[in-house]
Amino acid sequence: MVSQYQHLVDLNDYPVSWWNKIVELGEDICAHPQRYTHACVGKIMATLFYEPSTRTQMSFQAAMIRLGGSIIGFDNPATSSVSKGENLKDTTKVVSNYADILIIRHPLAGSAKAAALSADCPVINAGDGGHLHPTQTLTDLLTLKEEKGRLSDLNIGLCGDLMNGRTVHSLCKALSCYPNNTFTLISTPALKLPSYIKDILRASGCKFREVSSLESVIGDLDVLYMTRIQRERFSSEEEYLAEKNTYVLDKAKLKKGRSDMIVMHPLPRVDEISVEVDDDKRAMYFRQAKYGMYVRMALIMTMLENQAPTKLLKGTKHPNYSCNNPKCITNSEQYLPKSFIGSGDTVECEYCDERMLLEH
Ligand code: NCD
Repeated sequence: MVSQYQHLVDLNDYPVSWWNKIVELGEDICAHPQRYTHACVGKIMATLFYEPSTRTQMSFQAAMIRLGGSIIGFDNPATSSVSKGENLKDTTKVVSNYADILIIRHPLAGSAKAAALSADCPVINAGDGGHLHPTQTLTDLLTLKEEKGRLSDLNIGLCGDLMNGRTVHSLCKALSCYPNNTFTLISTPALKLPSYIKDILRASGCKFREVSSLESVIGDLDVLYMTRIQRERFSSEEEYLAEKNTYVLDKAKLKKGRSDMIVMHPLPRVDEISVEVDDDKRAMYFRQAKYGMYVRMALIMTMLENQAPTKLLKGTKHPNYSCNNPKCITNSEQYLPKSFIGSGDTVECEYCDERMLLEH
């Protein structure tokens, strides 16, 4: 299914050269913000936030305002027609006629792709459940470029909830496309990186190791990317409590890290980084949040300037099959065309990437 608009659902739908251009523009905006104050005058951006957010939503809004554009939207579906039972398709369709660009965050995987199917303007994925978060990844790429000077030859440690952390999934996919990056995946056995992301790392020839101790590997890292345990994505409070507080980066642990290592975190922090770490020059997370605004300015400009049709569904339609993932948008918005990638009996849902067996 082809949409006449250009969307950002997954960064890997674009070549690395496109990401690099956005990061370069982000660097220029960061250095000369005054040059861009009229870049989007007369344009309207809508934010449809079905899930809580501080940074992503406000950095998008601040980005559009700093480009001279205007903003509309909701951040609490309870105060919109969603509370009356309106489906994602209708909300998207209507709002996309009011705005020139639409930013969506939603608790279900595949929701941004679903929204793009019916939108009459470009859609940007601002986080779809535990699946992907491409604009956080652009933020992370700009941070690495500015603070480490490179996007390759990095040993990146990712620590915490690697299973449910969408920022981790998008970042691994992106960094695997640059040469010589190696990944140290630090988690408990229950919160390991999903196998489909590990397959992507393998396919791109990236070295990775899975470990459970942060202290034993911190000294090897160029970058330590901490994440919170994603409480809202657990099926029970007991399961969450069993994982809570497993990894806490404090001054003592940080001492074992190299002096040129940087500590990143997409935020919000809960208790996985002690406040005492904030004053260390390696703590980069607040600066990272600021880079997020600049890179979103670059992204909005790029998406509004260059319109090219996007092929949204490339796979095979199997109307009689349902995705096995209960958190996939196709299981709650029944009208969506079910589409799967792959041939043979094992296929992947085109919305959430869940791998499943087709039964005959
Ligand atoms: C992240 C998110 O929403 O996925 N936050 C963000 O966008 N900066 C990380 C998180 O919620 O843990």
